[in-house]
Amino acid sequence: MHLNGSTFNDLRQVGIHPNFWYPVARSVNVKSGKLFATQFAGEPIVIARTAQGAVFALEDRCAHRQMPLHLGVLEDERLKCGYHGWCYGAGGRLDRIPYLTEGGKIPPEARRVRSYPCREQYGLIFIFAGATAMAEDVPLPNLPEFQSAEYSTMYFSREVGCHYTFMHENLMDMNHQFLHRRLMGGIQPVLLSHRAGDDWVEAEYKFEGGKQHPGADLLVMGGKGERQTDRDYELMTVRTDYPYQNLVVYRSHSTIPTIRLWAAYVPIDDEQRRNRSFGLLMIRRPKVPGLLMLARPLIRYFAQSVFYQDRLAVEAEQRAYDSQGADWNHEVSPVLLELRRVLAERGISRHEATTQHGSPELPKRVAEARQ
Ligand code: FES
Ligand SMILES: [Fe+2]
Repeated sequence: MHLNGSTFNDLRQVGIHPNFWYPVARSVNVKSGKLFATQFAGEPIVIARTAQGAVFALEDRCAHRQMPLHLGVLEDERLKCGYHGWCYGAGGRLDRIPYLTEGGKIPPEARRVRSYPCREQYGLIFIFAGATAMAEDVPLPNLPEFQSAEYSTMYFSREVGCHYTFMHENLMDMNHQFLHRRLMGGIQPVLLSHRAGDDWVEAEYKFEGGKQHPGADLLVMGGKGERQTDRDYELMTVRTDYPYQNLVVYRSHSTIPTIRLWAAYVPIDDEQRRNRSFGLLMIRRPKVPGLLMLARPLIRYFAQSVFYQDRLAVEAEQRAYDSQGADWNHEVSPVLLELRRVLAERGISRHEATTQHGSPELPKRVAEARQ
């Protein structure tokens, strides 16, 4: 796919590649012995947490009459459909039809529902929506700060009415500081360098001048006064490692992240025009114990205000796209142009992404991804 060359394909028609681990729920929202309904790119998924605390994920559609399984109940680690009580095991196999009479036959297509590899990490529940056989070989994101006692993590999760690629562009694009001028004053980002590979893009920025909201100053308290290097400015790196993003800030003279924001944007609907954005904001603790605890409400207020402004912008972009029927983006930033290339090359065409469930026209690449 060539976005910047002569053949232009519409980035907003590119489906996210399913062969990755995507968060679909926060752990705290999936209670023991309960079912939780979610979605990945139009595929309804039910997450179940057994009384013992284990999680598993199934297609949220009963093989009998397509009743959503999340309306059922969990009984002895099995999911019982709420309509006629068909029972499924964690692997999606139909174990039992309570009223099946002797000699009654179960059609082969009704003997199971799809199950998704499912893992719990970082307070999130991840599913692997692509080729199940590949799940073992694809790593979950690596977030060393999350495990470290030196950091405290704040969660953000909400639905945003836009294609996931708008989210990627928004975070990588520090030139939209103007949108946040009320919160960030006259701070000016300066692009220092950028690099890109097949499935990644990274940009380094420094910030000059201006006062900002106190929440922004409190956010970067950790590591103040350290001297590990001569760099006398705060450094920010923003990196897309398809399909995730990381924004990391280092204080001047410090080589240890003062914050790391990890983000994933998970398409909800078939057309991928809505996404659920998950963010983990890992904040390095300042030396004074308890200070971060006190600062948390102000930090959260600041982060949510920034996100609110970003959401206004990306949802407006989606509306413009919908009314114009095409991507009229005229990008000038070299970082964003690289990012658009990565997103286009790594994704799958939305036509492929939506032609699913064994349709005869299923393109080979998608069929493999969804086997
Ligand atoms: S629809 Fe699920 S048991 Fe009938
Ligand atoms: Fe922003």
